[in-house]
Amino acid sequence: TDRYFLLGNPVSHSKSPFIHTTFAEATAQSLQYATRLCPLDDFAGQVQQLWQEGCLGMNVTVPFKEQAPALCQVLSPRVALAGAANTLYLRDGEVCCDNTDGIGMMQDILVNLGWQVTAKRVLVLGAGGAVRGVLQPLLQARPREVVVANRTAARAEALADVFARTAAEQDSQIRGCGFTDVGDQPFDLIINGTSASLQGELPPLPATVIASTTAVYDMMYGAEPTPFLHWAERLGAERGQDGLGMLVEQAAEAFALWRGVRPQTAPVIEALRQTLL
Ligand code: ATR
Repeated sequence: TDRYFLLGNPVSHSKSPFIHTTFAEATAQSLQYATRLCPLDDFAGQVQQLWQEGCLGMNVTVPFKEQAPALCQVLSPRVALAGAANTLYLRDGEVCCDNTDGIGMMQDILVNLGWQVTAKRVLVLGAGGAVRGVLQPLLQARPREVVVANRTAARAEALADVFARTAAEQDSQIRGCGFTDVGDQPFDLIINGTSASLQGELPPLPATVIASTTAVYDMMYGAEPTPFLHWAERLGAERGQDGLGMLVEQAAEAFALWRGVRPQTAPVIEALRQTLL
């Protein structure tokens, strides 16, 4: 059988086996997808071992995404910019990698939710791996301006520098700052890519970033709205959404790279939502 793996640490909680197994059934593809707990100090060894076992493709998750590109011969432009990969596959005898997180998020925002990004002001919270992975696809939707705000302002500034050229190519602007320096104008879209929700915390933003037309997106998801989505709703944001759709869409992009067919995502998002309730 064709075998695929998710490498991470931890991985046992992952919904990816359910997602890919459901995709495979729906598209009549014969494959197995399993998690593999990877020792923190031996990512390269595990990857090599899986290729030797005849595995056809891998997903990579926390904390290995930044280590993945170095193990590949062909990097997609997205990976080259982000410095992180979540999908590995073989093509013409070479190990290739891509990062489907950003296109997955944009597919959810633009297509599933139907939100506008072109010519809008977008605030992105966080400057870690999650945000690195989504900035290029976000900029490709041609927002007017992207402000990257982070607890550690210097990391946001450095990230904005990395993506300045991509932004300019899209007639867009990008700048990085701390949470208190986001200005006093409301944003059209705010994307939370920090892990603050995991500690039940909230990025300390001024309330002025939210207007009655603001849409908020949290890359995290759970049974309950995240603290960030709660906060935005209390301040009167027009709409909010968690990252469950992003999770399924990034998986669909990986599945398409591996199998050449892009599965329907709506039924899987719906099924996962039910299991969360
Ligand atoms: P990931 O790959 O999930 O992005 P990461 O690289 O560790 O993980 O980045 C975590 C992000 O969440 C960072 O932007 C971090 O801010 P710092 O760069 O200042 O560390 C942010 N973050 C984590 N906990 C936070 C909290 N309690 N409040 C605000 N931001 C937080």
